[in-house]
Amino acid sequence: MLEVSKYQLGEDRIPKSWYNIMADIPPPPPVLHPGTGQPIGPDALAPLFPMALIMQEVSAERAIEIPDPVRDVYRMWRPTPLHRARRLEKKLGTNARIFYKYEGVSPPGSHKPNTAVAQAFYNSREGVKKLATETGAGQWGSSLAFAGALFGIHVDVFMVRVSYDQKPYRRALMETYGARCVASPSNETEAGRAILAKHPDHPGSLGIAISEAVEVAAKRDDTKYALGSVLNHVLLHQTVVGQEAMKQCEMAGDYPDIIIGCAGGGSNFAGISFPFLGAQLRGGQRARVIAVEPAACPSLTRGEYAYDFGDTAHLTPLVKMYTLGSSFTPPGFHAGGLRYHGMAPLVSHLKNLGLIEARAVTQLRCFEAGVQFARTEGIVPAPESTHAITVAIEEAVRAREEGRSRVILFNLSGHGHFDMQAYTDYFAGKLEDQHYDEADLAEALAALPGVPA
Ligand SMILES: Cc1ncc(COP(=O)(O)O)c(C=O)c1O
Repeated sequence: MLEVSKYQLGEDRIPKSWYNIMADIPPPPPVLHPGTGQPIGPDALAPLFPMALIMQEVSAERAIEIPDPVRDVYRMWRPTPLHRARRLEKKLGTNARIFYKYEGVSPPGSHKPNTAVAQAFYNSREGVKKLATETGAGQWGSSLAFAGALFGIHVDVFMVRVSYDQKPYRRALMETYGARCVASPSNETEAGRAILAKHPDHPGSLGIAISEAVEVAAKRDDTKYALGSVLNHVLLHQTVVGQEAMKQCEMAGDYPDIIIGCAGGGSNFAGISFPFLGAQLRGGQRARVIAVEPAACPSLTRGEYAYDFGDTAHLTPLVKMYTLGSSFTPPGFHAGGLRYHGMAPLVSHLKNLGLIEARAVTQLRCFEAGVQFARTEGIVPAPESTHAITVAIEEAVRAREEGRSRVILFNLSGHGHFDMQAYTDYFAGKLEDQHYDEADLAEALAALPGVPA
């Protein structure tokens, strides 16, 4: 019998709506104004985001229609394939059936355009001509640059300094799409200048880059801000991933026992898992859902569930999330997209409700898993995605040891074609497991903002 290696859907099966998990869970804690400690309303976000996205941010409607112009662009690469990792399974000698949803087939190479295209569309519909944003690994910056090119929006990207230095070709890709890319911390903002004055060689962090982009958007009438993860509307847009995966698992005649995603701000993890979790919450089959984070920036496994700022300069409202503290600067490891001090409020809420698990893995273990994956399945994964692969392999090996058959589904959030320097360093023995400083973490947690009860 033919062994199917990938499950593909026709373009007509691209979901017609995004799935909003807010409809199926108790409401998460409100977003607060840092000055008053009171919940903020949609108007407070209007200087930064178009109203359509703000309304999605606060919506509890289960299905939110995907506008036709967005689905038209999705058709360039969606539906993405669901692969069965047969060669990896054989190599591991496991009875587990491993499936991965491959988001690296998008033009910029990851899941990020699923929301970049939607955000660019809503901004352009409300007349916005410029967007400011941050990027860690460069996947988000290049995705918004791509979406900006399609919808006639100029994009300014603040790229975390370590990634800016590690990945010159991600920068070149953003410029090819027409965006401007600046290393963060930069001299272009007050937030950046204040940090450079104290630490001229600061490696940057997503928290700092967010501050710079928010500052630019807040100060300029012609510019709005776009965030590549964390916020409810971003997670919402990523649910096309899980909705397609559900249909593809059905084609394969399997339902996952375990669903895995790497988690930086939480968006690709939410994208693959929320539609399955929603089905479970409405009485359907159960699956274990695991978010995988780097041991050097472990917000879900070492952070506190507390109100905190989303950025380092404290320009954002307060959100309740698992956080390492907004002043925490993670070491400069290669999975730049996972170097964020917090976690999406919705993912944090689910963790707090006990609906998902979290695991932290080390850099060297991840590169080992990434190389094993490349040598069996052929795809060179982004360093971020290797975190999901690591736990998928661990679970498949455990299934082998326990003599069980398991269905494992993970999100392969992006390819690593612009990350080859990291692989080169790994082969040269130059990579190490970096550890955050416990004293820094304690200091950052001690500085969490107090919130009136
Ligand atoms: C390929 C890839 N995977 C995962 C992530 C992490 O982001 P998120 O947790 O929002 O999916 C990034 C972020 O840049 C990324 O580029």
